[in-house]
Formats: sequence, structure tokens, C-alpha cells
Amino acid sequence: MDLLAVLVIVVALLVLLPFIFVKGKDAPFVPTEEEAVERIMEIAEVGANDIFYDLGSGDGRLVIAAAVRGAKAVGIEMNPLRVWYSRIMIAVLGQWQRARIIQSDFFNVDLSEATVIVLYLLPKANEDLKDKLLRELRKGARLVTVAFPISGFELVKEDPRGVVYGPVRLYKVPEFSPTSVL
Ligand SMILES: C[S@@+](CC[C@H](N)C(=O)[O-])C[C@H]1O[C@@H](n2cnc3c(N)ncnc32)[C@H](O)[C@@H]1O
Repeated sequence: MDLLAVLVIVVALLVLLPFIFVKGKDAPFVPTEEEAVERIMEIAEVGANDIFYDLGSGDGRLVIAAAVRGAKAVGIEMNPLRVWYSRIMIAVLGQWQRARIIQSDFFNVDLSEATVIVLYLLPKANEDLKDKLLRELRKGARLVTVAFPISGFELVKEDPRGVVYGPVRLYKVPEFSPTSVL
């Protein structure tokens, strides 16, 4: 291998490594199993009138599924590789008018327009998000947790088939939350 080839490989690795190793701060990347995607859409009854948010949107599969159902769909993801992969998939599948991915930590994004929000995160992240969700989400918004529960919301339905790590749960944002009266 000549020096130029070595240089090209080193530069490519330097460029790619940060993309590969930006870890999910509040959950590792474990995509929802394909066969569970539609069940998540169904339990939340995602439709054309919805504004759908996936916090930690991974490869964008839930965002795309919500957009295909006619919802305005937003994914928030901090790993740039997954952000760009999902943006490309959104374009390839012709969903760019309804779906978009924000590259950010979801704690820094205003969630107040969401009517449906999905969390497939670790238990601590769900708890850390609780106050932000109670503060920002409109009353009656639907909250879906994948695998791990969240406290402070009204549990409406549970699908025990869920994903490999646990059930899918549907919650409603209460009419009166502790933060809404402060
Ligand atoms: C368990 S995966 C779920 C992926 C996708 N929601 C799905 O169901 O297929 C969690 C994702 O959250 C991302 N993540 C973790 N903490 C985050 C944060 N604070 N802000 C944005 N994304 C985050 C990870 O990079 C990972 O892609």
C-alpha cells in the first residue's frame, strides 16, 4: 500500500469515527423491531391530523411510518450518522414533505406542538424527561413508551407484545398536571 492510500484511510477514519462513536446520551441505539412499528402507530392511532415526535429517532423508521400515515413527523436524534441515514431514507421514500429530523439533544427542543410523542429510551431518561413533557405537551396529547414505563401520566393501554425489552404503553397527558397549576 502506498503512502497516499494510507493517508486517505487515516483521513477517512478521522472523519468517520466521531460519527460512529457519538453515543446516544440517554439510550443506546436499539431500533424498534420492524413488526412492532405498525403496532406503535396503531396504539397511538397516528393519523393525518397528528404532529408526531420520536425522541431519539434512530434510523427514522417511526418517523417515516408516521409520515406514511399522513402525520407531520419529527425525529430528534443526536447521532449524526443516524440523522443523515434517516434524512436520506425520508428522501428516498418520498416523505420529505411530511417528515424531518432535527439533529439535537431532545432536552433542548421545544415539544409543545406534538400531539403524539414516542420514547424508546432507558428508564432514567423517561424520568428525567417527565417534568419537561408535563410542562410542554398540550393536554390530551398521547405519549407512547416503548419497553420502559414513565410515571406522572395516565396509562390508557398496554400492548404486552411490545418489543424485545418490554411492552408498549400508551399514556395521556393529564388535563391538570402538577406543573400546569404552578
Ligand atoms: C433505543 S433507540 C430508539 C430508536 C428509534 N426511536 C426506534 O424506536 O427505532 C434510542 C435512540 O436515542 C438516541 N438518543 C439517546 N439520547 C438522546 C438525546 N439526549 N437526544 C437525542 N437523541 C438521543 C440514540 O442515539 C438512539 O438512536
